[in-house]
Amino acid sequence: MQCKYFGICGSCTLYKKSYKEQLELKKNETINSFKEFGVNNIDIIASNTSHFRCRAEFRIYHIEDDISYAMNRLDRQGVVTIDSCEIVHNSIYSVMPKIIDEIVDNKMLRFKLFSIEFLTSNLGEMLVTMIYHKKIDESWDEEGKKLSDKLNIKLIGRSRKVRRVLSDDFITDEINVNGDKYRYQIYENSFIQPNCAVNAKMIGWVKSNLAGDKRDLLEAYCGHGNFTIALSSEFNRVLATEISKTSIKSAKINCTLNNIDSIKFIRLSAEELTEAINKKRVFTRLKDVDLDSYNFSHIFVDPPRSGLDEHSINLVKKFDNIIYVSCSQETLKRDLKELIDEYEIINFAIFDQFAYTSHVETGVILRKIGLIRKEKYEN
Ligand SMILES: C[S@@+](CC[C@H](N)C(=O)[O-])C[C@H]1O[C@@H](n2cnc3c(N)ncnc32)[C@H](O)[C@@H]1O
Repeated sequence: MQCKYFGICGSCTLYKKSYKEQLELKKNETINSFKEFGVNNIDIIASNTSHFRCRAEFRIYHIEDDISYAMNRLDRQGVVTIDSCEIVHNSIYSVMPKIIDEIVDNKMLRFKLFSIEFLTSNLGEMLVTMIYHKKIDESWDEEGKKLSDKLNIKLIGRSRKVRRVLSDDFITDEINVNGDKYRYQIYENSFIQPNCAVNAKMIGWVKSNLAGDKRDLLEAYCGHGNFTIALSSEFNRVLATEISKTSIKSAKINCTLNNIDSIKFIRLSAEELTEAINKKRVFTRLKDVDLDSYNFSHIFVDPPRSGLDEHSINLVKKFDNIIYVSCSQETLKRDLKELIDEYEIINFAIFDQFAYTSHVETGVILRKIGLIRKEKYEN
């Protein structure tokens, strides 16, 4: 990929290397960093080399009556104005200049516009959120509606304590996991994996590498059911939990969209889930769930950058099989140190969600040591 803003825009930091060299660097750094856990062979899930981000956010830079997209500069000396971005999905790439053209002479839409967020899907739906440093009301809706009709986009306006949704506040996505198609409704302002193609491969990797006797699955940090929906066919039943109300709402819709009735999505923080499993606290949110009736063989965790807290570490240790997807190798390493005496790493992968940056998503599949020995002995 070539970009005229390489070396100036702060978004892509590994621009001096070819994509192949970037992957090689990430592979070597990961193996080096995790060799203390016996990791020497890892799977590498590559990204498309351009137009891979399904979610993107740009600041808006105002120069008298003109406006432009802007990104932080690589040298951290303010912002650089840009008219395009090579890493965003093609549908975002093509709508970006059209939005500027439409709003530059429209005072209502342009004035005090602070940033624009884009969310798109494999089906090409586009949700655009315009964020203002001024109050917006019905008169904004009128102009916003014209823009959304003209460009065929879903539009949301936001300002302090105000959120004006002109049609839907979600998009529908379809992803292909190892040949099976799944539909998802994804809401504005909730977590999504940024790289749609890598996301599908990442779910596929987990699905193909699930080990051991698969009974029921417990999941924490499930978001909108991104992994849950596709993994559910591998298990008898699934109990999936997450802190965000919006994500749980869309997870339940996603079950219906995919005709799945074996998953229960419950809004519980990881801390609350631990309390519930350890029977330390009774939750009305779990009144229709008979926890004792589950026969969990696997736990799946995909926490935020902070990783697992002490209680969650103790919770995952109750399971024969742990699937851990992480967006921070630093906290993943910290957590693996707590697990490695009792578990063996049986698969390890990096997923290049964030090409052209040094960030990487990591997946680890662990199995209780005694079980592996028992299986070898029995065979
Ligand atoms: C890295 S995302 C993964 C989401 C999902 N697995 C996916 O692939 O889209 C982490 C998720 O954890 C949720 N989260 C953050 N803190 C949490 C907590 N303390 N307890 C439970 N969920 C939490 C966030 O809302 C977010 O949906």
